Amino acid sequence: MSLSSRFRRLDLEARRAAAAEEAGSGSDAFGSERSFIELADVMVESAVGYLPLPMGIVTGLLVDGLECAAPLATEEPSVIAAATYGASIVSRAGGFRTHTGKPITIGQIHVTDAASDAVERVTAAESRLRDVASVPLARMESRGGGLRGITASRLDTTGTVRVEFEVDVRDAMGANLVNTVAETMRPVIEEITGGTVLMAILSNASPARTTLSEFHLPVERLARAGRSGAEVADRIVLAAQIADADPHRAVTHNKGVMNGITALALATGNDTRALEAAAHSHAARDGRYRALTSYQVGDGALHGRIELPVVMGTVGGAAGVHPTARAALALLGRPDATRLAAVAASVGLAQNLAALWALVTEGIQTGHMGLHANRLAWIVGARGAERQAVVEALKQHGEFNEQAAQQILDDLRRQDEGNG
Ligand code: MEV
Repeated sequence: MSLSSRFRRLDLEARRAAAAEEAGSGSDAFGSERSFIELADVMVESAVGYLPLPMGIVTGLLVDGLECAAPLATEEPSVIAAATYGASIVSRAGGFRTHTGKPITIGQIHVTDAASDAVERVTAAESRLRDVASVPLARMESRGGGLRGITASRLDTTGTVRVEFEVDVRDAMGANLVNTVAETMRPVIEEITGGTVLMAILSNASPARTTLSEFHLPVERLARAGRSGAEVADRIVLAAQIADADPHRAVTHNKGVMNGITALALATGNDTRALEAAAHSHAARDGRYRALTSYQVGDGALHGRIELPVVMGTVGGAAGVHPTARAALALLGRPDATRLAAVAASVGLAQNLAALWALVTEGIQTGHMGLHANRLAWIVGARGAERQAVVEALKQHGEFNEQAAQQILDDLRRQDEGNG
């Protein structure tokens, strides 16, 4: 049987059964915890269950003088280890200092066939548009947020008119709210411009939300793999300069930065794609794709810096309904959006420091392979104390593949049988 177009009309249990049959698995492969299965059905269309993803915690992260724990959800073995490593060395040296911009989300309305003076008409109608927007924004205004600016311009290449408005969304991510405001304005914009609205939607570019995090680290703390701290610091600076000069390297450099930030976003129920889109558009803001971090050496210290828009909310969205996201926010000390952005940017910088530090010294595979050994042991069926023993043996042999893991496990079991 193949999953038919009627699938989405089946009830939850029937969908789970159909998916399990198609996959040749039990329906438990799509999760077995009842409350999460039902929550999935509330959160998405055509739900069959949920995907359990590992979650770990980066502890002892010092951001703006306040220590915190950052929960990260990720499938990649080295992410939490690297973030913890980078965070702990920086935190012991005074921690991260941050600055975050305003929680402004942009909305856009694109109009076709507008009158030749449509731009001027929108400018003249600003107070009317503010009145229209104030209805969906009433609750946000009572929390100190609300509409900030409205601008209009004509796009030369398409001849269409773009009406852009900014909303201070306080601690929300703001997507739903801004989309509602855009759609509420739609008929009024048509009336004012004499044109037809093609689309009304938020923009995920969030230049006002730029967060900066930085640290100073005495260079001697970076000594590693037979290289002095000063030498390692210079190599880190050069590695970041290469990422800034070479877009191919910048993509991987920034992927490493986002390893931690996206994992924090996932753990706290935030929209990881909006975050990534905003971050990468920032990396390409001057027309060439560049590194999101930079490093300098001065006065015996390595100075690390990250700058990117961090579009994350602490109220509404998935954070409002998902118990794990709520628990993650509680672990973070129930931050507001500004504090969450400060922690996120610092995790990204910690992650990048750890990656560059390893790359310019012994390379990353040494650490990665140790973590990979755990997966290999699991795949061949080692559990509990057996898994630990297989991991240790793989590390000793320095051979990291399934065949080696299987061989070690078989030997171990034969030995145990012999002893028993
Ligand atoms: C791996 O997920 C991330 C790194 O490739 C980042 C980097 O190269 O800077 C290690």
